[in-house]
Amino acid sequence: MRMPPVKKPVSKQVVDSLNRFEESFLTVLDEVAPEISEPSLTAIKAGGKRLRPALVIIAAGLGADIDEAGLRNACAAVELVHLASLVHDDVLDGADTRRGVSTINANYGHRRAILIGDYLFGTAFRLLAGCDDNRLIAPLAEASVLLSQGELQQRQALRRLDQTIEDYLTRIYTKTAALFVASCLMGARLAGVSEPVAEALRDYAEGLGIAFQIYDDILDFTGNEKALGKPVGSDIREGTVTLPMIYGLRLDGNGALAEAILDPRDEAVCNAVEHVIACGAIDQAKALATEYVDKAMAAANALPDGASKKDLLALGKFVIDRYH
Ligand code: IPE
Ligand code: IPE
Ligand code: MG
Ligand code: MG
Repeated sequence: MRMPPVKKPVSKQVVDSLNRFEESFLTVLDEVAPEISEPSLTAIKAGGKRLRPALVIIAAGLGADIDEAGLRNACAAVELVHLASLVHDDVLDGADTRRGVSTINANYGHRRAILIGDYLFGTAFRLLAGCDDNRLIAPLAEASVLLSQGELQQRQALRRLDQTIEDYLTRIYTKTAALFVASCLMGARLAGVSEPVAEALRDYAEGLGIAFQIYDDILDFTGNEKALGKPVGSDIREGTVTLPMIYGLRLDGNGALAEAILDPRDEAVCNAVEHVIACGAIDQAKALATEYVDKAMAAANALPDGASKKDLLALGKFVIDRYH
């Protein structure tokens, strides 16, 4: 089952640029040993919304005469870091399915998946090192460091019932929003924007990234397997306590959720998913996600009028609409 392509509500100019990126992206591992390139290409071709390259392109659109090769390398680098993080995330989570196909760890084992993830991280930075503009490296390096910290924090919090919303928000900033921020800042650097514009882009990406991860965590309860590309309830099974669960534990009258987090047998997970949906936890999580989308929209509204601002606002709306 291949994931259906997601139609992003962005301008034709951005779609065309994304298509050019996609073509070159498929050749980025051409020179690599098939043990690495084949599993990676299967994952790349299985789907993916390419949201982070879209952010690079839209932010770069704030400038004029952008170097196409630099833009394509920046897009490839963020998408490779994203893919590397997913390959490692699936090892950490013991996940069998992503984008509707078997994960690399499920097909080839954890050892190969770790090596492939490492290779993809390295390739991302090699691409940037080959660009004329070495100011692109710092934002991606920062996001990669934070990403690892976020995943580590998530490991340390596995199956812990005493987590606060603040712990959760810190974790999702580092594991998800930081790469959104890097994407926008790389685009900003290609465009050569002023400091206040770069700051507005940073705030936009932070709000969007946090909201995006909250919605991803909501979808783990309310989505369907076909659209998700993986089974519902994966987070409970994997022991990752997400925002709907933090709210759910507070509203947990019969202990069903706590029981499933600690001992995720099939029946317990099904009961817990139903309980989280019925108790109002999803609505509370959506309300918090909406606050972060609103912050993102306010930051985008502070940008100069033009196509990029429109696209950023449309992307914010897309993140909300996908889940309602
Ligand atoms: C998945 O990201 C990991 C999260 C940060 C939630 P995406 O939902 O952007 O993954 P793809 O690239 O579209 O598969
Ligand atoms: C996002 O977290 C993964 C990374 C940021 C690496 P999740 O664990 O929620 O992502 P999915 O649900 O596996 O795509
Ligand atoms: Mg995961
Ligand atoms: Mg998830």
